[in-house]
Amino acid sequence: MKIDITTQQVQDIACDALIIGSLEDKQRGILLTKTAAVVDELLGGLITERSKAGEFKSTLGEILTIHPMGKLAAKRVVVVGLGKSEKMETQAIRRATEIAARHLQNTGALHIALAVGGDGDKIELAQGAQAEVEGALLGLYTFRLYQSAEQSAVEQISLLTQAAQRDSIVQAVEKAQALADATNFARSLINEPPSVLTPGVLAQRARTMAQEVGIECEILDKTKIAELGMGGLIAVSQGSLEPPYFIILRYRGAPQTEKGMALVGKGITFDTGGISLKPAEGMDEMKGDMGGAAAVIGAMQAIAHLQPAINVTALVPTCENRPGATAYLPGDILKIMNGKTIEIVNTDAEGRLVLADALSYATRAGLSPIIDLATLTGGIIIALGSTMTGLFCNDSQLTDDIIAAGRVAGEKFWPMPLDDEYSTFIKSDIADIKQTGGRPASAVTAAKILENFVDDTTWAHLDIAGTSYVETKKPYQEKGGTGVGVRTLAELAFQLAHK
Ligand code: BES
Ligand code: MN
Ligand code: ZN
Repeated sequence: MKIDITTQQVQDIACDALIIGSLEDKQRGILLTKTAAVVDELLGGLITERSKAGEFKSTLGEILTIHPMGKLAAKRVVVVGLGKSEKMETQAIRRATEIAARHLQNTGALHIALAVGGDGDKIELAQGAQAEVEGALLGLYTFRLYQSAEQSAVEQISLLTQAAQRDSIVQAVEKAQALADATNFARSLINEPPSVLTPGVLAQRARTMAQEVGIECEILDKTKIAELGMGGLIAVSQGSLEPPYFIILRYRGAPQTEKGMALVGKGITFDTGGISLKPAEGMDEMKGDMGGAAAVIGAMQAIAHLQPAINVTALVPTCENRPGATAYLPGDILKIMNGKTIEIVNTDAEGRLVLADALSYATRAGLSPIIDLATLTGGIIIALGSTMTGLFCNDSQLTDDIIAAGRVAGEKFWPMPLDDEYSTFIKSDIADIKQTGGRPASAVTAAKILENFVDDTTWAHLDIAGTSYVETKKPYQEKGGTGVGVRTLAELAFQLAHK
């Protein structure tokens, strides 16, 4: 994507479409941003008139298209709603730009110009610019590797700004590009068919990325995994012909120290359920059961570009969950890397087993805090839907930090309990713990299992089963992987580096 920053007058920008923003205002109906007000005047008050006629209300993501007929160099003007003025935040700019850019791409635009936020009233100019460019790049994302028909795609984005702001805007654009590219990289990992993106291929993609951005990559094979005593990862992988891998990526932003934070991602490249086979309907979506892995690998790419002063290690246990002749069985007892045993009751609860090994690895390595991301339970979808990610955390400060980082990134997290009374559901008669606690509070009991493998380390578990994959296309993104977590984790790395 070609991105340029321009200080031209708004009427002089030659492009297929110019995007400007407008707010919903209690008193005035609509409230145009400064640039939008200039455009309105150039058009003889057409935007104001159309809004008075009831054609446009500025609700978030609403679009009004105007053809300026030579009054501006732009061929089309799209006014996009930013929602209520009192609720204005960067996420409104990001979301509105996603929708407008996506709409324009689908209606033939090749060169778009952005002047959506850019007011500097409520939102700082550089932050507004970052949200706009991020929004455009996220909204324009498509996954068309396997479609033969050519489709029109935006090739150039021009960002409008004032000459005085140029330096801070250049930085904002670079940050936006690093974050959006990493998110889109994660989306593509999720969207790949499961027979293409096997555990071995996921490991290769992580290695290639690491080489490109200059971070360390170590990939442990089955022999090494068995040697380390990772009984969860070995057992889950056993029903498949594809061997498991344990991917380690290391970014050193604070080379004077050894430790640092750990990002752990569930990397089940396909989850059939194993012997406890899933029903056929919707099983194709289980190609996305490596959404946690995609998020942490994507986050490492963004972090390597943006260079926060902190060490970050990504750990990804990856394998398939299949019902092969050698598959692990309900009734089996597994020993995890930290020595604890788990009684298996349902081979479809595989995520917690591979995570148990990875969390044990992170804990033994002395990494802190540990943050894991996993498409772990159907229960979190029942609880929070696809709007918010479930956040389980043993530290209130880290809880606040993640929610705050998410707010900056435009991703929502909701705190969930780790109360000890829930442990009674995962007591086993013949092993240290039982793998599942039944249907009630299944997202919580899954988190309680994970808690057994982090000792006293500061730890957060993000259940992204509802937020990592959209089943139907949205105005702001197509069906498939969302890349949730990438931007929040990158933002969090900066916040923790400053502490
Ligand atoms: N990968 C699934 C969870 C999931 C479900 C993710 C739907 C995305 C969409 C996980 O491995 C799983 O199967 N969980 C089971 C556990 C149960 C058998 C205890 C669940 O939550 O239903
Ligand atoms: Mn499963
Ligand atoms: Zn799974």
